[in-house]
Amino acid sequence: MFSFILVPVLLLVLTHLIQACASDDDCSLNGLCVQNTCICDPGWTSSDCGKLDLYPATRYTGYNWTHVNLPSYYGTKGNSSWGGQIIQDRTDRTLFHLILEHFSWGCGLSAWRPFSVIARAESRTGPAGPYHYAQELYGAFRHNPSTVWSEADNAYLMYTIGIETELPTTCRSFKWANNISVATAPDIRGPWNKFTPIMNGTNPSAWPLWTSESPTSDIALAVEDNVIFQAPDFEGIYDKIKIQTWNTSDNSPTWTEDPFLWRDKRGNWHILAHWMIDIAERGEKYPRVGAHLYSRDLSGNWTFKLQEAYNTTVVFTDGGRTDYMRRERPKLFFSDDGEMTLLYFSSGVQEFNSSATYTVIQPLGQRAKEYEEALRF
Ligand SMILES: *[C@@H]1O[C@H](CO)[C@@H](O)[C@H](O)[C@H]1NC(C)=O
Ligand SMILES: *[C@@H]1O[C@H](CO)[C@@H](O)[C@H](O)[C@H]1NC(C)=O
Ligand SMILES: *[C@@H]1O[C@H](CO)[C@@H](O)[C@H](O)[C@H]1NC(C)=O
Ligand SMILES: *[C@@H]1O[C@H](CO)[C@@H](O)[C@H](O)[C@H]1NC(C)=O
Ligand SMILES: *[C@@H]1O[C@H](CO)[C@@H](O)[C@H](O)[C@H]1NC(C)=O
Ligand SMILES: *[C@@H]1O[C@H](CO)[C@@H](O)[C@H](O)[C@H]1NC(C)=O
Ligand SMILES: *[C@@H]1O[C@H](CO)[C@@H](O)[C@H](O)[C@H]1NC(C)=O
Ligand SMILES: *[C@@H]1O[C@H](CO)[C@@H](O)[C@H](O)[C@H]1NC(C)=O
Repeated sequence: MFSFILVPVLLLVLTHLIQACASDDDCSLNGLCVQNTCICDPGWTSSDCGKLDLYPATRYTGYNWTHVNLPSYYGTKGNSSWGGQIIQDRTDRTLFHLILEHFSWGCGLSAWRPFSVIARAESRTGPAGPYHYAQELYGAFRHNPSTVWSEADNAYLMYTIGIETELPTTCRSFKWANNISVATAPDIRGPWNKFTPIMNGTNPSAWPLWTSESPTSDIALAVEDNVIFQAPDFEGIYDKIKIQTWNTSDNSPTWTEDPFLWRDKRGNWHILAHWMIDIAERGEKYPRVGAHLYSRDLSGNWTFKLQEAYNTTVVFTDGGRTDYMRRERPKLFFSDDGEMTLLYFSSGVQEFNSSATYTVIQPLGQRAKEYEEALRF
């Protein structure tokens, strides 16, 4: 009698356990579903490939100059920063640049608007750094840079928010509406031209649609709330092509900011975002934080699984670990061999009981080490 009930139940449980995936969508489009099991692409892990395969970071790599307080500074938050994009030099392949949001005059994150500037830092010791301050690309107020190479334009494009402004002589913050602008340069060092405003909004993340098969000048641009725009070229009209269907309101469980948009080697689309569930659930920035969203089409059906892709914990190569109070501005660095392998993850972090902020870079998977070895670091 019992077995009549138990056997089907057991079978159901077993099939459920074994049948981890039915399609690549069940593998977060970060791998392939092979015989009901997800085979994750390098850089991703977990049964549904929805988690970044973060490897330990090395202390004092990335960009961490919070202790640099010059006598002329108004504040004591040193050379605080809030994340950066790793860029390999186009001709000098062992030189890496980090395009940073950098807070001037020691004023730190709490005075980000207007003290944020865009700076370039350099590393000769590999993509993880440590990066050393090299140059200010744009003065205050400039923030939120998304820097991409555009093959169609043979130039770098930089999307930011901000306006040119006079700075006060004390650390204080302003409340302004944000809008997004774009500028270009033939080389990452410049000369960078004047910004052209393109829309109101914040958190730009650009991705040129150019491929060798389809050499278009079209640009995709994700902004706050994972709204997606497309333009025929970087100076063109940006058409809104996707508004997400979930609740993007502040304090909803699907509230995010800081999207980082990219297209993978299979042509699928992904976003990493700072998922504000931490604030919604606990009223503080701790500890789930990172979301991964994916879709087969840019303007199609995006999936947002309510699970963490990364959290506020960073493990270090010395065996230590730090649970950060805040971890935002996720950005990735990919291999350039056509595989689009995730190699490094960078983010802006703030420790508990500290008002300074810095930029942590973590290797992703074993491929990061292989990449460094190939460049003889
Ligand atoms: C960053 O720098 C601060 C100040 O020197 C230090 O306390 C902190 O441990 C550093 N963090 C990392 C990850 O290097
Ligand atoms: C700190 O930032 C200033 C610019 O705001 C720069 O001139 C200086 O070189 C930086 N120092 C370090 C150690 O990064
Ligand atoms: C852009 O933002 C600045 C600062 O919030 C504001 O002063 C300016 O009017 C905005 N420009 C446009 C075109 O909306
Ligand atoms: C952008 O924001 C400014 C200031 O809030 C407003 O005057 C302007 O109409 C907005 N522009 C668009 C295109 O929404
Ligand atoms: C969206 O979330 C907000 C904040 O939690 C809530 O107030 C609002 O009712 C939600 N809207 C819908 C349509 O569920
Ligand atoms: C983050 O996740 C790791 C496992 O991936 C876990 O060890 C750690 O405790 C988590 N951090 C927090 C703050 O919950
Ligand atoms: C969107 O994708 C989800 C998960 O992959 C799926 O369950 C859902 O049916 C899809 N919706 C549409 C309208 O295609
Ligand atoms: C922060 O400081 C408070 C007291 O000032 C202390 O109780 C708490 O443990 C500190 N938190 C961390 C993570 O160091």
